[in-house]
Amino acid sequence: MHITMVGTGYVGLVTGTCFANTGNDVTCLDVDESKIEKLNRGESPIYEPGLDALIARNVKAGRLHFTSDKASAYEQAEAIFICVGTPSDADGRADLKYILGAAADIGDAIESAPGATGGDANERRAKIIAIKSTVPVGTNAKVKAEIAARTNKPFQMASNPEFLKEGAAIADFQKPDRVVIGIEDEGAGRRLWDLYQPFVRQGNPIFIMDIPSAEMVKYASNAMLATKISFINEIANLCEHYQADIDEVRRGMCSDKRIGNQFLYPGLGYGGSCFPKDVLACISMGDEAGHGTALLRAVHEVNQDQRGTFIAKIDRHFGDGSGGPASLAGKRIAVWGIAFKPHTDDVREAPSITIMQALLDRGATVVAYDPVAHESCEQVLGDRIEYADDAPDALDGADALVVCTDWDEFKHPDMDDAKRRMKDPVVFDGRNLYRRKAMRESGFTYYCVGREPVVDEPATA
Ligand SMILES: NC(=O)c1ccc[n+]([C@@H]2O[C@H](COP(=O)([O-])OP(=O)(O)OC[C@H]3O[C@@H](n4cnc5c(N)ncnc54)[C@H](O)[C@@H]3O)[C@@H](O)[C@H]2O)c1
Repeated sequence: MHITMVGTGYVGLVTGTCFANTGNDVTCLDVDESKIEKLNRGESPIYEPGLDALIARNVKAGRLHFTSDKASAYEQAEAIFICVGTPSDADGRADLKYILGAAADIGDAIESAPGATGGDANERRAKIIAIKSTVPVGTNAKVKAEIAARTNKPFQMASNPEFLKEGAAIADFQKPDRVVIGIEDEGAGRRLWDLYQPFVRQGNPIFIMDIPSAEMVKYASNAMLATKISFINEIANLCEHYQADIDEVRRGMCSDKRIGNQFLYPGLGYGGSCFPKDVLACISMGDEAGHGTALLRAVHEVNQDQRGTFIAKIDRHFGDGSGGPASLAGKRIAVWGIAFKPHTDDVREAPSITIMQALLDRGATVVAYDPVAHESCEQVLGDRIEYADDAPDALDGADALVVCTDWDEFKHPDMDDAKRRMKDPVVFDGRNLYRRKAMRESGFTYYCVGREPVVDEPATA
């Protein structure tokens, strides 16, 4: 199949490369020429484990192409997957400007392509326009109208929301828990069902449904996952107040099969390019429909507060007891982990950015280390922070360490070495990576989430 991916970001690049890997001829289109130039030089614009090798293999085989030339990208395509961003607008709604911009391009391309009697068999077949971006219910209909306003030639709409996780994107796409395809035309459904067959050989389901339901599945899934995270963070905060230990509470609670243990880890709240904006978009969908979304409003609020609750621990430790923001002038604070989660360089809505911003606002010198996210962070914080070459280096002369991302390499550090390097052995652990008993024995002051801190007066382990 000739496929065009519109938008060569985390979703378009990964899914396009995987489609090429099963023998399709794939063109990845992006309006960001620097991204396309990078890809054509053989460099990936994003970090995703395994992606570089997969791109190289499929480019070499002649099945994967990158371009910023819209006309050539759309001309041959039998299926066009829209994978552009859908960020929040100022009111929290999904901003559809990139989606509708792509729709206009596609409408123009269909109109100027050879007509039903011209071209080859592929060109005579109606193109499938599948929306992979996460969009509010009703967007498919808007895209259809935008295209139809520019051409009378046939095309078929589909909704094909994407469920991959950054950091495990290739494995997720190649072995999906499920594939969701929303259609209004059975022919489009059959063609997309065929396209996905190589990825569901182990029997994972392809659900074919109507388009509004397919659009809603994605929001419902992300809203549910975000709810779990805010739920456990709220319980963790209660644990802190009542001297309960969230780790013990999790063990007791999650052994109930109805509850399960996925996505129930306390921390700094969810970040990334999906959950924050998708929860807000769901709330806006409710507002527009006149239906309250009290639960999702609370999920969002708890998530926002979680970062403030953590920063308040730093203020209390360094402050003068007045309860306000502490002055950190002259303090050097090490930060381990910038990416919003491990195995990605994505820092969009990352808790680390909020926390580093708060540290800078209080006058601290911040020295951060992340295995892959320095470049992305530089685009947000520039040279306002220092970057260390490795995790131990970040600790040299530090008055405290703040752990923001649970990368594997932070899980078993040499604590004696850390203590020697630091000016003061204080750790604020936003991911609960360390055992309190071990931290006390190593002589650290240790703050975590949903567990009693280890401070001057040793508490029970
Ligand atoms: N990142 C994820 O983990 C993930 C997972 C599932 C779903 N999604 C959804 O997929 C969508 C894309 O997310 P992403 O993280 O890949 O975004 P991204 O920002 O990484 O990539 C989007 C790309 O689209 C390009 N673009 C914009 N307008 C264009 C146009 N008219 N023609 C061609 N290219 C254009 C941009 O230049 C950018 O490179 C969003 O709706 C997101 O919610 C993301």
